[in-house]
Amino acid sequence: MKRPFAYIAGTGHAVPKRAVTNADIAAMGVETNDEWIIERTGIRQRYVAGEGESLTSLSADAARQAMARAGVQPGEIDTIILGTASPDHLLPSTAVEVQTALGCTRAAAFDLAAACSGWLYSTIVGESLIASGSADTVLVIGAEKLSAIVDWTDRNTCILFGDGAGATVLRRTPQRGGTKGILSTYMRSDGALAELLWRPAGGGAKPFTPESYADRSHYIHMAGREVFKHAVRSMAESTDRALDAARLTAADIDLLIPHQANVRIIEATAKHAGISMDKVFVNVDRFGNTSAASVPIALNDAIAQGRVREGSTVLFAAFGAGFTWGSAVVRF
Ligand code: UT7
Repeated sequence: MKRPFAYIAGTGHAVPKRAVTNADIAAMGVETNDEWIIERTGIRQRYVAGEGESLTSLSADAARQAMARAGVQPGEIDTIILGTASPDHLLPSTAVEVQTALGCTRAAAFDLAAACSGWLYSTIVGESLIASGSADTVLVIGAEKLSAIVDWTDRNTCILFGDGAGATVLRRTPQRGGTKGILSTYMRSDGALAELLWRPAGGGAKPFTPESYADRSHYIHMAGREVFKHAVRSMAESTDRALDAARLTAADIDLLIPHQANVRIIEATAKHAGISMDKVFVNVDRFGNTSAASVPIALNDAIAQGRVREGSTVLFAAFGAGFTWGSAVVRF
């Protein structure tokens, strides 16, 4: 059997109603400013969930769009995979809440923890379920409500992250030997570096306690400069591996859609891959870093802008806490 086994049949995204600008964060008393944030990250605003906006509701909104565009009914979804680092509850998974919200009565559902690589990892798992014959139609979501786990007094992190959800429907390719679909994938991890970007408390190893609240260790902690270096290195490796596996070169790529963490990381990734910035999709300015949601939100945005069309060959690359990283080449 040869690829492609699966193709992306529909996409959607959802963000909370409220946009928070850099000036809004400075006005909250965080020692930062619009100029620094734009220069160092490229971010101008991000969306932050309010009353009634949960990971489940954002995910379900994004999924409904993706399913409508794919022409898929809830009862046709075999599996729901939700990449996230900020689930609504630690038990059970948010994926099962989404399954109920959508009425996907036949679907198995589970969360996948790979931080910012969550949608790519989930897509690779979904493709594998289709390739093995276990599923025909898989709903893959990347979603985050990072505002709930960010320390809003820590300028190293709170300026970066945003809330949102991106969804894609993966379907079995209709005929053998086609060229539309997932052409190659790559994924890796290195847990030795976990403590460079993590939540020290709140899990089984160090449960929530009055002490963890006092020292704020239940929030995201990040060694920004170190993470930056690894992100650049891993994203570069990822683009190389996915292109090699698809037997393509940068010249064959119509659009690079990288994880939207920081415009400087995106520029370094594009430079390494030999792809000019006019073939790179950037929307970190409007959404901030939405972790697992960033790549599927960018994909849906790129389709809406006409930058991904029938026949486009797209290179995806992501990097996140873990560390985890990965990539894929997909023809639409
Ligand atoms: O999603 C995947 C995982 N995450 C990432 O990929 C994030 C990777 N890291 C980054 O994007 C960057 O490292 C940051 C945007 C987090 C920080 O940018 P940087 O250029 O690495 O800044 P830095 O941490 O080296 O700090 C430079 C200076 C420092 O001041 P001094 O020591 O030079 O006086 C910081 O204290 O900027 C200061 N600074 C700030 N100033 C204003 C740090 N954060 C801020 C801030 N506003 N928010």
